[in-house]
Amino acid sequence: MATDSLAAVDFGGYTLLENASLRARNTLRVDARAALLAEVRDIHALPALLDWPAIRNMPALALGEGSNVLFTGNFGGLIVTLKTRGIEIIGEDGRTARVRIAAGEHWNDVVRWSLAHNLCGLENLSLIPGTAGAAPVQNIGAYGVELEEFVHLVEAFDLRERRLETFSKNGCEFAYRDSRFKREPDRQLITALELNLPKSREPVIDYAGVREELATMKIEGKPTSPQIAEAVVRLRTRKLPDPALIPNAGSFFKNPILPIEFANELKREHPALPLWAMDQTHAKLSAAWLIEAAGFKGAREGDAGISERHALVLVNHGNATGAQLWALAQRVREGVREYFGVMLEPEPRVIGSA
Ligand code: FAD
Ligand code: EPU
Repeated sequence: MATDSLAAVDFGGYTLLENASLRARNTLRVDARAALLAEVRDIHALPALLDWPAIRNMPALALGEGSNVLFTGNFGGLIVTLKTRGIEIIGEDGRTARVRIAAGEHWNDVVRWSLAHNLCGLENLSLIPGTAGAAPVQNIGAYGVELEEFVHLVEAFDLRERRLETFSKNGCEFAYRDSRFKREPDRQLITALELNLPKSREPVIDYAGVREELATMKIEGKPTSPQIAEAVVRLRTRKLPDPALIPNAGSFFKNPILPIEFANELKREHPALPLWAMDQTHAKLSAAWLIEAAGFKGAREGDAGISERHALVLVNHGNATGAQLWALAQRVREGVREYFGVMLEPEPRVIGSA
């Protein structure tokens, strides 16, 4: 085929699709399109892909399973989705195993693989949707654990410099739902992670609901990692709407971290507001509580809605467009700001004219 003609074609290490539908590629099921989409099976093919004359000057965007994005319009550039696979132990001592994971792996498969290999730490991160490659982007976290605790390094293809780079844990600049990859989007395409996973560990079960769930499961004494995983799966299944049944992107806003004086003042005015002290100067507040108290839980504008189950989850009841979902999110944000003087920050990447 002529090299300047781009159709849906397999080029060996990657497949290229023109005018690709993204509807099945984002968990909010927004009907958007990408000018080009490459499914990459071999990262060594990346330089050749990016060297196409038609692609060289296009914006490029990494997309995993689309569980933390909102497309508010079509994307006029190249979307790169890594389909690479592989999880292996590359070193170990008596206490820890170092595990290398290809970016295209499904995150929950990584968790299940680690438990099957008697490795600990990832149990609290069970059932988080998405790929391993996206996990460092917002430093995924749940039930008292964040990914960063286990990161040895992150390997990424620098889309500007066109070469592989490695980032140490410190180099990733992790924070709550944040990292250098989230702050400088579309620069690094994460290709692999290396995690240090302990062979034993003190259970992390203080997050609200975990002990109660373990008690319901009739687990006495110190729970094992697979038991904690099961408790987390049960809690998540109950609390969060399943994107396969009602399209959503998980929490749509981050829990706001505010100066402690302001947070305490809000707590005095609203004693039921959940608040967690972060350090001496800052506290995290429950965005879900603020949204529910501002009256938005279960709200609906056409097919765009706020879940009846969890106030932090924006849902698509059918055919909402990205722009309609974003408009509702903006109204929620404005409502919470008016009620409480707190500006919520979206958690997912908003792609388009946000
Ligand atoms: P995408 O949505 O495809 O992409 C997310 C961002 O990462 C985008 O900016 C994208 O450009 C970038 N990206 C994707 N792949 C790469 C790559 N290889 N290299 C560089 N950048 C890349 N998150 C939590 O932290 N905790 C939770 O408990 C949690 N629960 C959720 C529950 C539900 C029901 C849903 C739908 C989502 C939840 N999320 C949660 C959010 C989401 O699952 C995570 O952010 C996940 O890591 C996103 O993975 P993904 O492959 O779908 O990424
Ligand atoms: N709450 C309400 N109304 C609701 C839901 C919750 O008032 O409709 C209050 C409750 O008081 C509850 C508190 O909010 O105790 C916290 O709720 P939950 O335990 O569900 O946690 P969250 O703060 O809403 C965060 C993460 C989730 C993660 C859970 C468990 C953020 C933005 N969200 O949610 O992550 O799974 O904790 O650790 O930090 C995601 O990032 O997409 C995500 C789902």
